[in-house]
Amino acid sequence: MPDSPRPRILVTIPMFAEVLAGLALHFDMDAPCGTADHIDWTPDTLVARAQGAAGLLVAGAPHIDAALLSACPQLRAVCSMAVGYNNIDLPACTAAGVLVSNAPDVLTETTADFGFALMMATARRIAESGHYLRAGRWTHWSYDMFAGADVHGATLGVLGMGRIGQAIARRGALGFGMPVRYHNRSRLDASIEQQLDARWVDKATLLREADHLVIVVPYSPASHHLVAAADLALMKPTATLTNIARGGVVDDAALARALRERRIAAAGLDVFEGEPTVHPDLLALPNVVLTPHIASASLRTRRAMADLAAANLVAALGGGLPPTALNPQVLPLRPMG
Ligand code: DGY
Repeated sequence: MPDSPRPRILVTIPMFAEVLAGLALHFDMDAPCGTADHIDWTPDTLVARAQGAAGLLVAGAPHIDAALLSACPQLRAVCSMAVGYNNIDLPACTAAGVLVSNAPDVLTETTADFGFALMMATARRIAESGHYLRAGRWTHWSYDMFAGADVHGATLGVLGMGRIGQAIARRGALGFGMPVRYHNRSRLDASIEQQLDARWVDKATLLREADHLVIVVPYSPASHHLVAAADLALMKPTATLTNIARGGVVDDAALARALRERRIAAAGLDVFEGEPTVHPDLLALPNVVLTPHIASASLRTRRAMADLAAANLVAALGGGLPPTALNPQVLPLRPMG
C-alpha cells in the first residue's frame, strides 16, 4: 500500500534551524523565509503560497481571515508563535473548523523584564541622554542634566492585568517599593492583590494617579484607542506612558501631541499603529524611547515560543491535543485529503 502523503505546512516567518529540522520530521515543508529572510505577505501571495498547506506557522502577522480560509479549504491548523493573536480571525477559523493556537506563558517573564526596562529607560531618560553623549554635546555637569523621574516608590499604573501585567506589578511592588494601581475588566483575587500591593481602580483614576503607566492589554476592536486624547489629558504632566501591548491601543497621533506639548513627560513605545511604520511625529520627539516590537526577544524565550508553536502544529495535524489551543472545540480536525 502506498504511504499516505505527509501533510504540507507553510512557515511564514524566519525560523530557528533546529525548529525547522524538527518540523521536517513530520511535514513536507515550505519555509520560504528560511532562518533569516523577510517576506512581505500580501493577501494574494499568502493565498498562493498556502495552497495545499494543512498548517501554517505564523507570528503576529500576516492576517488570517475568512477570505484566506475560503481560498485554502484544505487548511486545518494555524499555529502562532506570539501570545497576541489579533491578526487571526478566531471566530472565522472556528467556523471553518481550523484549529488556532498561540504561545502564552513562555514569554511572560521576558516580556515583563522588557516592559519594566522600557519604563525605567523612559523615566530616567536613558536613550535621550545616550544620543546627546554620542553627538559630542556633553561638555559640562549640571544638577538638572537629564534629570528624570524616580521609579522606586512612585505609583505604578498597569492597564491590563493579565499574566504579563501581573509580572510587571510584581517587579514594581517587590523590587521597587511601588504602590500598584491597576485597571482590568476583571479584578484579581484578593490574595493576589495583597501580594502585589495592587488596588483595582477605574480607568480615569488609574490615569490620574499613575506616575508610570504601563499598558499591557490585548488588542481587540474594544481596546482600539483605549488611551486617546481625553485619557492622556487626565495624566500628570510628570507621568510616563509605556506601551508594550499592541499598536492601536494608544492613539499615537494624540500621544505625540501630548508629548510635544509636555502634557505628559515621556513615553516608551515598543508597539505602534501601522507598524513597522511609526508615526513621524513620534520619531521627531526627544522624550520618547522607541523600540521595534522586541519585548519578548531574548533568544531563549523566542526559542521557547517557536518550540511551543511547533508542538501545537505537530499535535494538531497528528490528531492530538495542541498544548495551547485557542479553539479546542474544533477538535478532532477534519481528515485531510
Ligand atoms: C506577542 O507574542 O504577542 C508579542 O507581541 C510578540 O509578537
